[in-house]
Amino acid sequence: MWPYPKVIAHRGAGILAPENTLAAMRCGQEHGFAAVEFDVMLSKDGVPVLMHDPEFGRTVTGSGRVADTLAVDLQAMDAGGWLDEKFRGEPVPLYADIVKFCRQHGIWMNVEIKPVPGVEVETGRVVAELTQQLFADVAVVDTSHLPLFSSFSKAALMAAKQAAPHIARGFLMDKVTSDWKVNLQELAAKALHTNHKHLTAGTAREVKDAGYGLFCYTVNTPKRATEILHWGVDAFCTDRLDLIPADF
Ligand code: G3P
Ligand code: MG
Repeated sequence: MWPYPKVIAHRGAGILAPENTLAAMRCGQEHGFAAVEFDVMLSKDGVPVLMHDPEFGRTVTGSGRVADTLAVDLQAMDAGGWLDEKFRGEPVPLYADIVKFCRQHGIWMNVEIKPVPGVEVETGRVVAELTQQLFADVAVVDTSHLPLFSSFSKAALMAAKQAAPHIARGFLMDKVTSDWKVNLQELAAKALHTNHKHLTAGTAREVKDAGYGLFCYTVNTPKRATEILHWGVDAFCTDRLDLIPADF
């Protein structure tokens, strides 16, 4: 039911490296992590890049929007200096380059499709099509060697389902509302991904009893990780690779 790793490095390496960069993937790997979550968005010219925020200002300095910027220009931007001088010059990476790195190093991926509002369907479709190309050599039944898509956007996941039906989907809900199962059924999703802060033991049981995978974000203490795993949660991502080891 959950053929993937249990402990997943959030945005590459959580707090240890600038999120959604190649440096973060390297850092996570150095800490023994063989599973990663990251966010993927489209540039102006429709190229999937790793990025969490639709607007510059937090991880990339300056003002402007990812959706108004060409991929080539995003690749020239500094996505590392905000965290630490030692990461200055770390670029915004292309999704395709990150997949190549992760595959080379045997790192499993939870690809969060993070569309800029208004381009949900296109983002889901483009990310799914590219993913299909990048994993064309992996058998469709070899689930554990394929990534898992997730998104808060049902429209994006629907488009991904249409473009690459054999790549599994997890539906992201901050709070699990009563329509969770209908959504998962419509998406033919494999898992529910939710914020551990709002999850209860009862809801976890309900999801597991219905036969779905259950993934939590973003769990940053060993105590809480132990608790939700006892509830039946299959996997979680963490920012605290320093506190929660990959073999937790
Ligand atoms: O995919 C889990 C988690 O990353 C969702 O929230 O905002 O950190 O992308 P966010
Ligand atoms: Mg994310």
